[in-house]
Amino acid sequence: MNAEIQILNKESTSTVTNSKKFYIESYGCQMNFADSEVVASIVSKEGYDSTKNLNDADLILLNTCSIRDKAEQTVRKRLEGFNKLKRNNKNLKVGVLGCMAERLKNKFLEEEKIVDLVVGPDAYKDLPNLIKEVNEGRNAVNVILSKDETYGDISPIRLSSNGVTAFVSITRGCDNMCSFCVVPFTRGRERSRDPKSILEEIKTLVDKNYKEVTLLGQNVDSYLWYGGGLKKDFKKISELRQKTSINFSKLLKLVAETFPLLRVRFSTSNPQDMGLNVIVTMSKYKNICNHIHLPVQSGSNSVLKAMNRQHTREEYLSLVKKIKQIIPDCSISQDMITGFPNETDKDHELTLELMCKVKYDFGYMFKYSERPGTFAAKKYDDNISELIKKNRLQEIVDLQQKHSNHRTNEYIGKIVEVLIEKESKKSSNQWSGRNQQNTVVVFNKEIYKIGDFVKVLINNCTSATLIGEAVGYSNK
Ligand code: SAH
Ligand code: F3S
Repeated sequence: MNAEIQILNKESTSTVTNSKKFYIESYGCQMNFADSEVVASIVSKEGYDSTKNLNDADLILLNTCSIRDKAEQTVRKRLEGFNKLKRNNKNLKVGVLGCMAERLKNKFLEEEKIVDLVVGPDAYKDLPNLIKEVNEGRNAVNVILSKDETYGDISPIRLSSNGVTAFVSITRGCDNMCSFCVVPFTRGRERSRDPKSILEEIKTLVDKNYKEVTLLGQNVDSYLWYGGGLKKDFKKISELRQKTSINFSKLLKLVAETFPLLRVRFSTSNPQDMGLNVIVTMSKYKNICNHIHLPVQSGSNSVLKAMNRQHTREEYLSLVKKIKQIIPDCSISQDMITGFPNETDKDHELTLELMCKVKYDFGYMFKYSERPGTFAAKKYDDNISELIKKNRLQEIVDLQQKHSNHRTNEYIGKIVEVLIEKESKKSSNQWSGRNQQNTVVVFNKEIYKIGDFVKVLINNCTSATLIGEAVGYSNK
């Protein structure tokens, strides 16, 4: 679930014009972007309209990420830049939301004097009270993690939307405790959202002509609805309730069947939790996109063990084999961490080898960044030098580039189905969209428009983009 920084920048859909304005910026994973839409909905009801202009804002909110040190440093730098704005506008309030808020809590107020408001990922419903506090001149903090908050009852405001694709959260938190990862600490225990509210949110989107949803969670395959409650308490409930529970493959089926004209994606899948039933369900429904984001992190069993990943290299490869058997044209993408404590040259070789076996369509690769409080930070020395981390990262990035190139070349001469999302950045004469496999496709606009499903014949490519010509509407 990786994404670039994005500004929620359209005017609020609210018909009432409020006198105050808020500006929100999101960092990190797609879940943060989805959460910002929930926050926008809550804040709008408090008399704030959204603005894309920082200078107009009475309230600046940064929805932050803690996953790597660099992500945190980016936010700190951004905060520094607000000092001048605050000097010019004495009433301006600055709030920090998301994972950094949760990780640093009250300490944030001491470390960054510019901050007035600190709100963790499960406390957004308390924003009305917290905003009142800061407007009365007091700092406000709420970082309480919840066992059941899923924001299922809040209609997100799709502020940065292209009007075609949207994120829908289905689970919050993560119970996996990968030893390097701060998410279980910042987003709390895993809980699933009521399927009824998921379907209602999707229905609202479909009614507004949205054409694609991405079901979001840190670990979507672990989705489990049995009437509410934590995933870990499932075993304690009655057998009857267990039998009538809804797991991820059932949810996928429900969404795909209820909205047959809607494209359905999901992210992220964890290898140990992804069952055969999910793959089979994907293969049965044409509208579930053939793409799986399947982070592996390392190709070495000893590193996977130290990472507390609950799968081996062999289990991972066998899962990939099953996916390709059942859905031959399924694309697979990865996340990798390089330079985990004690990673040897041999471990690194094993990662490169695994990549050659899978030939991922694309991937997100990172240098290990020690996160305070995690098991890895407590137990292992961050003992791989920056230079080695950098060199190993470069090697896996280069190899991925080669594989991505191989994958995009496979499409040449083929017809793919593209959902048009926006104008191509490079040319105002071209549309940009994605095929089922999540690869970006550009082609001449001709008679088509945003939101159309179009068949495109691919005749050229780069490692990240397919270039082609439209040959007609897709029969959707
Ligand atoms: N399950 C989540 C993972 C979130 S973190 C999801 O929905 O995608 C995204 C990726 O960041 C992870 O897969 C991992 O590759 C990377 N990552 C997490 N912690 C890290 C750390 N401490 N250092 C470097 N990369 C890390
Ligand atoms: Fe993090 Fe592992 Fe969960 S990477 S989000 S603890 S699956």
